[in-house]
Amino acid sequence: MSAEPINLDSWRDLPAAQQPDWPDPSALERVVSELQGLPPLVFAGECDELKDRLAAVARGEAFVLQGGDCAETFAGATADNVRDKLKTLLQMAIVLTYAGRVPIVKIGRVAGQFAKPRSKATEVRGGVELPAYRGDMVNGFDFTPEARTPDPARLLRAYHSSAVTLNLARAFTKGGYADLRQVHAWNQDFVAESPAGRRYEKLAREIDQALAFMHACRADPEEFHTVEFYSSHEALILDYDRALTRVDSRTGLPYDVSAHMVWIGERSRQLDGAHVEFFSRIRNPIGVKLGHSTTPEDALALIDKLNPDNEPGRLTFITRMGASRVRDALPTLVDKVQASGAKVAWICDPMHGNTFEAPSGHKTRRLDDVLDEVAGFFEVHQALGTHPGGIHIEFTGDDVTECVGGGHPIVEEDLALRYETACDPRLNRSQSLDLAFRVAELYRSS
Ligand code: PEP
Ligand code: CO
Repeated sequence: MSAEPINLDSWRDLPAAQQPDWPDPSALERVVSELQGLPPLVFAGECDELKDRLAAVARGEAFVLQGGDCAETFAGATADNVRDKLKTLLQMAIVLTYAGRVPIVKIGRVAGQFAKPRSKATEVRGGVELPAYRGDMVNGFDFTPEARTPDPARLLRAYHSSAVTLNLARAFTKGGYADLRQVHAWNQDFVAESPAGRRYEKLAREIDQALAFMHACRADPEEFHTVEFYSSHEALILDYDRALTRVDSRTGLPYDVSAHMVWIGERSRQLDGAHVEFFSRIRNPIGVKLGHSTTPEDALALIDKLNPDNEPGRLTFITRMGASRVRDALPTLVDKVQASGAKVAWICDPMHGNTFEAPSGHKTRRLDDVLDEVAGFFEVHQALGTHPGGIHIEFTGDDVTECVGGGHPIVEEDLALRYETACDPRLNRSQSLDLAFRVAELYRSS
């Protein structure tokens, strides 16, 4: 038990980046006090379990697959949607486990990923200027003054939408859907039309044979029937994550029980800022995004502040350098952190450093750039003898046309066909599987 209660409000005196301008502070207060009385979405013990898994990643014994939408929406919290996202994640995990021969820690960008940092506070269309969309937790996507005005009631909807999504995810992953004998079923609607689907089917047949063999040996471990799945989001809106922080009765320590893992974005990781301060007080496993301009001093200072006891699994660095920069920017960072003796897990976000605008005006990414950043990430770690610990991606289970390239290629002219993201462009199912096969190859050869 800790002797003194931990101050969970010390961040309030510090500058907090990317917070909405709530028009009515008393309405915010009412919502916050309601949130404070609601049950936890996850248990502290589950957060600790994920911390153990991430400690194994930091030791080089496991690999993280973290992914989901850039921005979840309230309308998207349907059974079909959640199932299709999970299905794609499970297929990717199978490819990585089987072809990469490594245990996969599965973490969704789901059940809470409702708030977005923006590079501009407002958006101008046809001479009209309105607040930028900051995610369904804050305001609406429609370009009207009503929709774009921040509304604290949305924090409550975000909580309930997270609860629904997490309930579905728990049911799908524990209730038979994730059983290894379903490896073919996950692919059924997909095989014929895509090269990635056919490649997956071949692998699934091999897994079937292995399972039949195990079955004949009377081996049927529990691990074949359910999967461990964890939730995560960028804890951006501090009033929300603070309101969902609870003191764990077992240990007397505070956990943000809105998700198993939370991370700090590239735009809010200021050392003297409110986000870093708040994160230093909670005991969840946490991530910090690091862009190409991060100095080794920045990284070491973040380690001092966020993981002073060097607890394994506590801190994950999620690097997002861009394909053209990863080979120059990452080595010094990894090298200096490694030399300091800090135990961190390194994972690669090959999405956020590779966004560009197509002639049609769509924000997009090339799958080739995504693959190239991942390859660079593996090369850097291999050269330094450190462990490439995972990937963090934006994807969806639907056949959207938001990123270009892939085995079933999408070209820039196709982007308008099915461009549905509320924020950044996501890999579709086939591009996600292409990526998983490539990462498995890289892992095997590293
Ligand atoms: C994101 O993960 O959607 C995001 C905004 O990333 P970053 O903080 O790395 O820019
Ligand atoms: Co994004």
